[in-house]
Amino acid sequence: MNLKERYGPVALVAGASEGLGAAFAHALAREGLNLVIVARRKKNLETLAMEISSHYSVEVWPVYCDLTAPDATGQIRDVIGDMKINLLVYNAALSYIGPYLDNPVSEHIRIAEVNMLTPMKMLHHFGSRMMDEKRGGIVLMSSLAGNQGSGFLATYAATKAFNRILAESLWYEWKTRGVDVIGCCAGATLTPNYILSKPKKISIFAPKPQLPEEVVDECLLKIGKTPSFISGRSNKIACFLMNQIFSLKRSINIMGDTTRKMYGIRD
Ligand SMILES: NC(=O)c1ccc[n+]([C@@H]2O[C@H](COP(=O)([O-])OP(=O)(O)OC[C@H]3O[C@@H](n4cnc5c(N)ncnc54)[C@H](OP(=O)(O)O)[C@@H]3O)[C@@H](O)[C@H]2O)c1
Repeated sequence: MNLKERYGPVALVAGASEGLGAAFAHALAREGLNLVIVARRKKNLETLAMEISSHYSVEVWPVYCDLTAPDATGQIRDVIGDMKINLLVYNAALSYIGPYLDNPVSEHIRIAEVNMLTPMKMLHHFGSRMMDEKRGGIVLMSSLAGNQGSGFLATYAATKAFNRILAESLWYEWKTRGVDVIGCCAGATLTPNYILSKPKKISIFAPKPQLPEEVVDECLLKIGKTPSFISGRSNKIACFLMNQIFSLKRSINIMGDTTRKMYGIRD
């Protein structure tokens, strides 16, 4: 069965206005799924909707919504009404790179809202409808930063660990009920936001950033087959070393030291 037969006719991509979210939207449209695309930037969403509907024979409904809002799921429901969503990709995220205390607590809370609370609520709402129908798929974006403590990415990394664990847990609960859940653990990926953060290349051994399309293609191949996965060969090798070979203390030190050097952070 192809993706449209398994999860069609409509997929919702939260955080679709650029980068990995836009790549998910393109890939799903190519597979023939209609799309609800959610983000804050109206112009980006309008352009994406036009691009997609001119390339593929699908319908696209943009929904402008700030996913920090406590009732973001209700706001989306108000726009799409009773439309059935059988594939949910929660890709939106906020991040902060730097010393934990240099960021006001209100910003850490915003990161937790976009990265943890809103996906938790959206999974509850859309997941329960998928369970009623015994048919659906859910992708939660995680990150290698969430595989161990990651200094200077503390709150972001903790939310990404939350995403992976939520995905793996619901994979178990829902696997016999027709609903596939997957956590997608990406490493550095060449999205506009990653490029804007201007990371320095500090070692020839550092994994090469992937293209968004590579991450998305691997994820759409693996959904329904595994609770979570690490995208790309070099990220898989790096994670094997960090999680299976090195001590926890060494892995956390490597991660913190690498982020410090990549972003020129002084404490
Ligand atoms: N890029 C990487 O190197 C990398 C590595 C590992 C994991 N990941 C994960 O992959 C996912 C996508 O990464 P990316 O680099 O493509 O991210 P990004 O450029 O930061 O984009 C994230 C998307 O989320 C949306 N978003 C952010 N805050 C929002 C809010 N308050 N309300 C509504 N939408 C919001 C943005 O749209 P608007 O600004 O228009 O609202 C954008 O479409 C994230 O979950 C990230 O953790 C990325």
